[in-house]
Order: sequence, then C-alpha cells, then structure tokens
Amino acid sequence: MSIIADDDNFKKARVEKNPVIKAETIEFDKNFENCIRPKTFDSYIGQSALKETLKISIAAAKKRELPLDHLLFYGPPGLGKTTLAGVIAEQMGVDIKITSAPALERPRDIIGILMSLKGGEILFIDEIHRLNKVAEEILYPAMEDFVLDMTTGKSQTVKTLRIPLPKFTLIGATTKAGELSGPLRDRFGIIHRLEFYTEDELARVITRTAGILDIEITEEGAYAIAKRSRGTPRIANRLVKRVADFALVKHDGKITETIANESLDILKIDNFGLDNTDRSLLKLIIEKYDGGPVGIETIAAAIGEDVRTIEDVCEPYLLQAGLLQRTPRGRKVSPETYRHLGYKNIKTIDQQNLF
Ligand code: ADE
Repeated sequence: MSIIADDDNFKKARVEKNPVIKAETIEFDKNFENCIRPKTFDSYIGQSALKETLKISIAAAKKRELPLDHLLFYGPPGLGKTTLAGVIAEQMGVDIKITSAPALERPRDIIGILMSLKGGEILFIDEIHRLNKVAEEILYPAMEDFVLDMTTGKSQTVKTLRIPLPKFTLIGATTKAGELSGPLRDRFGIIHRLEFYTEDELARVITRTAGILDIEITEEGAYAIAKRSRGTPRIANRLVKRVADFALVKHDGKITETIANESLDILKIDNFGLDNTDRSLLKLIIEKYDGGPVGIETIAAAIGEDVRTIEDVCEPYLLQAGLLQRTPRGRKVSPETYRHLGYKNIKTIDQQNLF
C-alpha cells in the first residue's frame, strides 16, 4: 500500500526537527499521535461520506470568501474528530486553536481564547458537552454575531458592552451529542456523526502508520491488528506500536500475521478487540446479574472503573458490536456475549425478553 506524499514530507520534517526521536519517552505518546496525524483529506482514511460533504462546504466557503459554518462532530472517542478539524484548517489555509471544555472553567478562559482569535481561524473545543452554562452563554453571541457581550458595573449602573470579534469557525467535538443543550446544538450549521472504521480502513491506517514509523508489516499482519482494533484508529495505532515492540524484541522486527496474533494474545486483546476491562464488565453482568439488566453505577463500583470511562470508552463499541444493550432498567448482555466469552449456558432470546 502506498504512503501518500504529504506523509513522507511530514516524516522527513519530523526527523529533521528531532533527530533523537527514538530516545524520547515521556512525551512520546503525544508526539506519536501528532506525527501520524493525517494533514490532508487524501491521507485521512475512512469517513468518506463525511469527507465529501466537508470538501463541498470548504469549497463553498472559499468561493464566498467567508469562514466555514460552525461544525459539530460527534461519535465515540478515537475516531479522528480532532484530526479532521486539523485537516479542515489545513484545507481552509487557516490556523487552529485547540482546547477542551473542562479547560474553560472560568469566564475569562473562554473570553481570552475568543479575543485571541484572528479572522478566519478555527477554534476547536473538545468534549463540548462539558461546557458550563456561563461559558455557553458567552459563546452564543460569539457564534451567532461574532461579538462578545460583556457586562460591567452592578445593579442600577450595569452596562452591556458589545465587543466585536473577528469571524471565526467553531468546531465542537463530543462523544455525547445528547448531552449538548438545545440552544448550543442549534448554533452549529453543520452537524456530523463519525462512524466506526471497517477492517479494510483500519488495515490502511495501520499500514500508513507503520510506514511513517519505519515499521515493516505484511498485509496479513495489518489485518490481524485491524481485526482487534474495535473499529477505532486510535486503538489501531496504539496496537501497531505494541506489536512492533514485540516483533523487534522477540523476532526480526517485521510484523507478520503470526507475530501480530501472538503479541495481541499476550496483551490479552481478544479477537473482538476486547480487553480485560470489557471482559470483566460483561462477565460481571453474566455471572452476578444473570445477564442483566443492571445499573451502570453498580457495574462501575464492582469493576473499579468510573462511570464516565465505562460510558465513553468501553460502551460505544460493545453496544455497536451487539455485546451489550442499554435498557431503561440498566445494561444487559446478548446471547452473542455468552457465546463470545465461552459460556455454555446461553440464555435464549425469549428468556432475555422476559426482563
Ligand atoms: N490516524 C488516525 N486516524 C486516521 C485516519 N482517519 N486516517 C489516517 N490515519 C489516521
């Protein structure tokens, strides 16, 4: 599979800028994510329908010589929302400022960022569903009319000051679109959901990443990793690194199907891509709650994870893989879950429906 030109340049730039890249450890994960991040629509694999509509929106905005409408991306974590925002900035030829809602705690945090924006720039706010009410209300006129409404003085002497802002594009990202307030959601002109990746797409992501990192990998090796990556490129990229370590230490450095499977077994990532946390969650529901339903708080306390991690990180894939179901009375598993985890006593669908 070919590595696209911009990746080669990127790789070269990275090595020139940082010749001792191999010695890095502390900041490695962050740098790793940044250096494998695609910069163009061509090198951004997957989400093809979304890419096509974005290309049109970008071309139209450029023709009008106006910033792009505010955009909201939602979907499970690790599917490339931040990466896509970076690609959009690159295509628009503008800078991007990246922040996340929990970092915008005080009014001055959001005001400071808005006032620092230059014309046409993109402001990316991750986890935008976690924005507090005050920050949200500052954002409304900024998004709608590109102004900051500031109040000064107290009670009778209170004055409202309108400060103009340059025209900018807000890109919001969230794993929980349902938790966004109606008024905030309504202010986004373009709203898109990111989908889980297919095995083919993940194999291409893996091959591309391996190419950038100078890791030799066979097509079968890439597919073996793709199969266990839960439809998520961030996981695929992490696994490439882990498997590459294994290939280097135990073999000659090349990732083959056998080596990939061997190392993923050692990492206890099964052929559905489930790890120990996923399995203990599902086993708990089966063994202690007879298949469910059981409340999320009870599950979280029993397996020692917090509710948010379970909801945001574990559940989206388990739900989509049909291994977990959400009901008004809690979570329950499916007959497929029993089968996958090797239980002989599979509850029949009829029994499940009695709940
Ligand atoms: N790395 C993470 N997400 C990616 C994507 N969508 N395409 C290529 N490489 C990626």
